[in-house]
Amino acid sequence: MRRMTVSGEWRCPAARIPPGSTATFTLECGGRAVKGFVVNFEGRYGAWVNSCPHVGTPLDLWPNEFFTEDGRALICSTHGALYEPDTGLCTAGPCAGDRLTPLPLHVENDTLVVRCG
Ligand code: FES
Repeated sequence: MRRMTVSGEWRCPAARIPPGSTATFTLECGGRAVKGFVVNFEGRYGAWVNSCPHVGTPLDLWPNEFFTEDGRALICSTHGALYEPDTGLCTAGPCAGDRLTPLPLHVENDTLVVRCG
């Protein structure tokens, strides 16, 4: 069985996440597992906790499926809330006006680095 190593930092070559794509990860934050995802929206990266502000479920019922079909928004697959990919603002649905929880993201030598908030 393959065991996944979880730490307080996630690194990934930026080239592996082209515009319009996402990647998921799990961070170990103060003894707690925090599931998150990175978004590349038109060349701009964002990192968010994978938890919908509505009732706290992951946004992606299908693993790593976050974008709407037109690629303009992120969508929660449970009740359809829509989010701006670069600000995390919920623009429609049961949690309109709320926001996804951001995670600190830095680019170091073409590598994305996400750490606990
Ligand atoms: S849990 Fe996301 S919209 Fe309800």
